[in-house]
Amino acid sequence: MSSVFQDAIGSLLAPIKNLLDDSSVSEIMINGPHEIFVEQKGLVHKVPNKFPDEEALMASMRAIAQSVGRIIDSDNPRLDARLPDGSRIAVVIPPMAKNGTTVAIRKFSQEKLGLKDLINFGSLSADAARFLDCCMYVGKNTLVSGGTGSGKTTMLNVLGSRMPKTQRLLIIEDSAELQIKAEHVVQFETRKANKDRAISEVSIRDLIESALRLRPDRIIVGEVRGQEALDLLNAMGTGHDGSMGTVHANTPLDACTRLETLCLMGETKIPPDAIRSMVGSALQIIVQCSRYHDGGRRTSHISEVLGVDAHGRYIVRDIFKWVQTGKDPETGMFQGEMVPCGYVPSFFEQFVANKLPFPKSKFRPPEWALPFLSEKKKAA
Ligand SMILES: Nc1ncnc2c1ncn2[C@@H]1O[C@H](COP(=O)(O)OP(=O)(O)OP(=O)(O)O)[C@@H](O)[C@H]1O
Ligand SMILES: [Mg+2]
Repeated sequence: MSSVFQDAIGSLLAPIKNLLDDSSVSEIMINGPHEIFVEQKGLVHKVPNKFPDEEALMASMRAIAQSVGRIIDSDNPRLDARLPDGSRIAVVIPPMAKNGTTVAIRKFSQEKLGLKDLINFGSLSADAARFLDCCMYVGKNTLVSGGTGSGKTTMLNVLGSRMPKTQRLLIIEDSAELQIKAEHVVQFETRKANKDRAISEVSIRDLIESALRLRPDRIIVGEVRGQEALDLLNAMGTGHDGSMGTVHANTPLDACTRLETLCLMGETKIPPDAIRSMVGSALQIIVQCSRYHDGGRRTSHISEVLGVDAHGRYIVRDIFKWVQTGKDPETGMFQGEMVPCGYVPSFFEQFVANKLPFPKSKFRPPEWALPFLSEKKKAA
């Protein structure tokens, strides 16, 4: 049995053993006992595996919950947990789940990805990777944006690991997923309330408050989903340059708007206009992750946020962009490349001052890409 699950519950998971053992399977989705899909190389397909019946599936989920000190039953019909090996599991049981017990297991990938891997996967160009590296070095506040499963956490992990060694990083997450390779890292995880055991909640907001008192150089919030957006912006704007987070959004501009909406979710007394200018001035770089229809996960945009214009609109400029040039007729894979958009970021002088090896010429797009960028060229 895979190291994912202990032997004690191993036999209960026998119906999906081959999927757990297969390292090319990144995610297993169980929609009731008789329907199982997997994701392999970015593409989702159905597999013949089946659990004997709902009872058997439920029993294995109960055992998994128990193994991580949690309960799943009619009073607690949802489970969202991290397994000891780092894999993530989410479960919803009937009657909420109409197909029968519904499960998604995001398997922990043993090999830690780095910037080089993202370049090899075609998810980033070598120049874009070097540019991001320089941004991490000089401490640009960075938001990683993307849809569900688009590679945000992976990107945050990769970028976090590129921060200068001398910096003290405070990482705050709902469930500890990030494994940032750095010398001075402090990691916090939220706690859910449990009335039965008189355990009170410790939220992301609480942990950011504590983190700010713990002399952080940079703060990293795994996933910004609520009013903690405001706390992260505050941290970014108050000397914690190079702080980062991820947000669910489909374009860099959407990411700004999303962050603004999240800030306004609670009972904040700050007027919306002021929040917008906070977002505009705190955020500097947006890295947009996208999952394309061919199964590829790519960085679609790296953009700079320059603030808010006189009409209250965000000024967002693309620095690098992935352009699709065609489609392989045999494999169906998209062909394309990440190219610079001809825009030199406002902070380029910082690269020069720090003697970073990133010449200005790297922002110039190649001749062939100009037609693909024509709209951008007009704006630039
Ligand atoms: N550039 C990439 N190329 C190929 N696979 C990738 C890439 N980035 C991430 N992945 C894989 O995609 C899956 C989802 O990645 P990740 O957990 O980073 O996404 P996410 O956007 O954080 O998801 P969620 O919205 O669920 O938090 C993982 O299995 C990961 O290994
Ligand atoms: Mg994630």
